[in-house]
Amino acid sequence: MTFAKSQTGTSFITSVVLAIILFTATTSRADDGYRLWLRYDPLPQLVANQFRSRLTSIVVAGNSDIAAAIRSELANGLTGLLGTAPATKTTVTDDATLLIGTPASSSLIARLRWDEQLSALGPEGYVIRSARIGPHSAIVIASQSDVGALYGSFAFLRLLQTQQPIANLNVSEKPRLRLRVLDHWDNLDGSIERGYAGQSLWNWSALPNNIDPRLRDYARANASIGINGSTLNNVNADAQILTPDYLKKVAAIANVFRAYGLHVYLSARFSAPMELSGLKTADPLDPEVALWWKKKADEIYTLIPDFGGFVVKANSEGQPGPRTYNRTHADGANMLAAALAPHSGVVLWRAFVYDMKPGYDRAGAAFENLQPFDGKFAANVMLQVKNGPIDFQPREPFHPLFGAMPKTQVVPELQITQEYLGFSNHLVFLAQMWREFLDSDTHAKGKGSTVSKVVDGSLYGQRLTGLVGVANTGSDRNWTGHHFLQANWYAFGRLAWNPDLPSQTIADEWIRMTFTNDAAAVNTISQLMLQSWEALVDYMTPLGLHHIMWGKTHYGPAPWWDTEKREDWNPVYFHRADAKGIGFDRTATGSNTVAQYHPDVRDKFANLQTCPEKFLLWFHHVPWDHRMRSGNILWDEMALHYQRGVDWVRRTNKQWNELAGVIDRERHAAVASKLAIQERDAVWWRDACLSYFQTFSKRPLPSGVEAPAKSLEEYKATALSW
Ligand code: GCU
Repeated sequence: MTFAKSQTGTSFITSVVLAIILFTATTSRADDGYRLWLRYDPLPQLVANQFRSRLTSIVVAGNSDIAAAIRSELANGLTGLLGTAPATKTTVTDDATLLIGTPASSSLIARLRWDEQLSALGPEGYVIRSARIGPHSAIVIASQSDVGALYGSFAFLRLLQTQQPIANLNVSEKPRLRLRVLDHWDNLDGSIERGYAGQSLWNWSALPNNIDPRLRDYARANASIGINGSTLNNVNADAQILTPDYLKKVAAIANVFRAYGLHVYLSARFSAPMELSGLKTADPLDPEVALWWKKKADEIYTLIPDFGGFVVKANSEGQPGPRTYNRTHADGANMLAAALAPHSGVVLWRAFVYDMKPGYDRAGAAFENLQPFDGKFAANVMLQVKNGPIDFQPREPFHPLFGAMPKTQVVPELQITQEYLGFSNHLVFLAQMWREFLDSDTHAKGKGSTVSKVVDGSLYGQRLTGLVGVANTGSDRNWTGHHFLQANWYAFGRLAWNPDLPSQTIADEWIRMTFTNDAAAVNTISQLMLQSWEALVDYMTPLGLHHIMWGKTHYGPAPWWDTEKREDWNPVYFHRADAKGIGFDRTATGSNTVAQYHPDVRDKFANLQTCPEKFLLWFHHVPWDHRMRSGNILWDEMALHYQRGVDWVRRTNKQWNELAGVIDRERHAAVASKLAIQERDAVWWRDACLSYFQTFSKRPLPSGVEAPAKSLEEYKATALSW
């Protein structure tokens, strides 16, 4: 039997030793959170002993860069977790061997005859099984491709990190969605639009010659949760990214990412042919324009053969697009798709389109603009739709385009960065929000037609599936600005792999890998994570309120705001408070955009009696004395929600203090100082919003709700600092 030779024995040993030195160097440093959930700190002796007895040697087959990445990750991970490095072999000679590879890279794996199961799992799927290799016991991580074996290796390390039994393993996994992509809103000057964790990770001026080693850690982290794509630049795109100089830099990044199965995508500016080559037009039906894009695509693929494709924000918030030339969104998307198709690239066409019309409802705009084009998009176009109809609010009902475009490959766009949710200052575990969204029932094909079924292709059989998340990463040492917000990056990846994964599972895994395996602490932390989103909604936008943040920055409350040049950027447009009541009437007596939902959903939302109270003010203008299900009137209920949110943050602060002995000092202190800001902000939100809305409701605060410390004028005059 032969193994394709990967690394010579000596160079492998050198790299293991190096990995150990590097690893020890990191552990002995104060804990700054850089290692994310891939910490690999020593397991308790007893657990480590048990694992060690089943892992005396490792065999990683194959000689690709991905196989090398697997080798280095396992050497690093197992050495850290178990305290000693298992022997590295080229074939199985002992019991307790960990064997990793594909039927093509390993004749031992080929001989197991798992081909049928492996091919059912596809190129990115894997099995982790206890098996016998000849006379020897082994754990086998096998896939059809190296990248699947890489995912399996990370999953195996996760089992160890979370201290799961590994005696009789029989795990089969495959990603439910094909494109699992992070969108970076990074500008070429290093700033990040809506980024709250430092500067861009891409150092454009140093590239392509100098490559920051951090890029590899970024790719590792993504691969560990199955993310397979990364869009490097802002959707408000600068055409420069498509120049030959920048493309070389992009290619250098792609070269690092490739060993981790991560494909690079770019945001393309629709008018790039005019800006870069002086064409007179960017009209998608102009043959010269189409040729320009075709040549550009060819140029990109020569440099980056595994390039993913283009993300396009067109005719939205001032960006150029096909509408400028009286062409349709489908014309624009399909022209770009034709340029990418020969290379198997895709176009992710964004549906975030909302041209202002007199008296219109912004929540209905994307549907009006895009739904008529169902069935008109090319086979390699995906329509990228934000989870809700407005814009990444703390809570929105699902976007009515989900379930309304059966002949279109719809992909949700989630926002991991917290533009409207307290930036990187507020602890909020977004898996809960995404769960509510993915579990929403569109009723598109009757009851049970959840968003996750629309998205994973099971409802309409779409060929291309995916999930996109606007990244929350940056150059901050801990990547996300707040240690707990690493969990949202993690959760995004896990949900893109399996959109039905429970939030509790995700939280538990993440806590165990990132903070502690101490059962009581895991329980306390997971509870607070699972409650955090509802609490944030309580102190920011309860009962369906939305978009009442401070103008432009979107940090802090400003429900009084009415000075933006576009009406539909003003909080007063969204909450519509007056002497009678509060809320946006989206029923037949108002904008009637509720009619964009399927009849069952429409009827439920449109009826005051059946509308879930969490969406009440999203769909209805409701009198202040409306009787809520609790028996309270609306005004009292709203005030109590704000108070409840504040109470939660205070309680969380105390609980976190009590965890001081369980969490390392540096991260504990960092989180505590963020929680102090969150408490200040929650109180401010409650007081500013209630003071302002009280000018309409003209009612006293109910008992149990604290009186504001300042006057409304003071809240109006002060922007919260972050
Ligand atoms: C929001 C955000 C912008 C962003 C836009 C988009 O409006 O504030 O910064 O460009 O969404 O998603 O395109």
